[in-house]
Amino acid sequence: MGPLFVRRPSLRRLGRALGAAAQPGDVIALVGDLGAGKTHLAQAIARGAGVPPETRVTSPTFAVVVEHAGRLPVHHADLYRLGDAGELAEIGLVERAVDGLLLVEWADRLPGSLPADTLWVTLTPARSGERALDFAAGGPRSTALRGVAEAWSAARRTSRR
Ligand SMILES: Nc1ncnc2c1ncn2[C@@H]1O[C@H](COP(=O)(O)OP(=O)(O)O)[C@@H](O)[C@H]1O
Ligand SMILES: [Mg+2]
Repeated sequence: MGPLFVRRPSLRRLGRALGAAAQPGDVIALVGDLGAGKTHLAQAIARGAGVPPETRVTSPTFAVVVEHAGRLPVHHADLYRLGDAGELAEIGLVERAVDGLLLVEWADRLPGSLPADTLWVTLTPARSGERALDFAAGGPRSTALRGVAEAWSAARRTSRR
């Protein structure tokens, strides 16, 4: 599957579709420079996973991870300030999040710290207001989630005709 090009409203719709399909134990890594849209996408995924609109979903800069209650728990992590993989192992991030959906911003800072079956989403600014989204999957659940993005993209193409 090639990259998806999305403006902000489409990115939010796609995020909600991913969140609606999430199951306990799923891990989604969000990769991209500052301002790429990682937190925006995390918010939309959290909404899709049932986190209510009155719950603020922002980059958990001071805590490494925050938990939001939804249809399933949504653990939102940001590794930007984390020192090394040992620190992450100490926190037990992945182990603690198995009851829900784990969203990880800046996951590429500590390669090898997430399970193989993680959906990697890379966001790259494209033309003004657009982001190119690339999806990489490494196991059955992440492949299923990538399939959700693919199906969303196909439905969008059909509805535009
Ligand atoms: N297509 C788009 N998708 C996501 N964000 C966009 C898009 N176009 C513009 N933006 C803007 O880019 C910024 C992304 O910020 P944020 O999600 O906090 O990025 P990050 O967490 O990657 O640092 C927001 O101000 C958002 O309004
Ligand atoms: Mg962010």
